[in-house]
Amino acid sequence: MTKKLTHIEHPLVQYKLSLMRKKDTSTGDFRMLMSEIGMLLAYEVTRDLPIEHRPIETPLAHMNAPFLKDKDMVLISILRAGNGLLDGFLKLVPTARVGHIGLYRDPKTHIAVEYYFKVPRDIEDRDTIVLDPMLATGHSAVAALDRLKQTNPKSIKFVCLLAAPEGIEYLHEFHPDVPIYTAAIDEKLNDKKYIVPGLGDAGDRLFGTQ
Ligand code: URA
Repeated sequence: MTKKLTHIEHPLVQYKLSLMRKKDTSTGDFRMLMSEIGMLLAYEVTRDLPIEHRPIETPLAHMNAPFLKDKDMVLISILRAGNGLLDGFLKLVPTARVGHIGLYRDPKTHIAVEYYFKVPRDIEDRDTIVLDPMLATGHSAVAALDRLKQTNPKSIKFVCLLAAPEGIEYLHEFHPDVPIYTAAIDEKLNDKKYIVPGLGDAGDRLFGTQ
């Protein structure tokens, strides 16, 4: 199976990401930038959505116009930082359904523990996009995808802002079928399993809880 990794190198994404990385960027600006990048990523990640043509009337003529073919997609936010990307995705795809997966990282073992899971009941008929800004060890992402796959969604894509090489490898190992989209591939993880150079704790910076 081909493992898919898409690095979204659009200059606007890269520029906004640099602003997010700066340690003196305010909570409000960080949140706004995450939402803006979410919109730009949504544009790239939804490029391959199937289209069908339906007859419509413009004020001047009849035409066969393109519409989205499939049922509305499900955006799955991995709590809590995923909500920052969700905001931007929803601006671009306002009809999407939303699921939430709550995981916390055990501070000693760094293993992901689930505390919340809610997705639409008819998820089997829908494409899903999983949102988590930081792909660090990959433990949370793998745990979230393990759990999501139990509900049999039609398809799954994984979207993050920053990925560490270790996280990409781990995710590819356990879920080689899930394409990864990221705005940056950083250097490494530090001994606390934070991404370096990274941007710090995405949830804390997004919600001002640092
Ligand atoms: N989660 C974060 O918020 N930041 C990291 O660097 C790694 C995991």
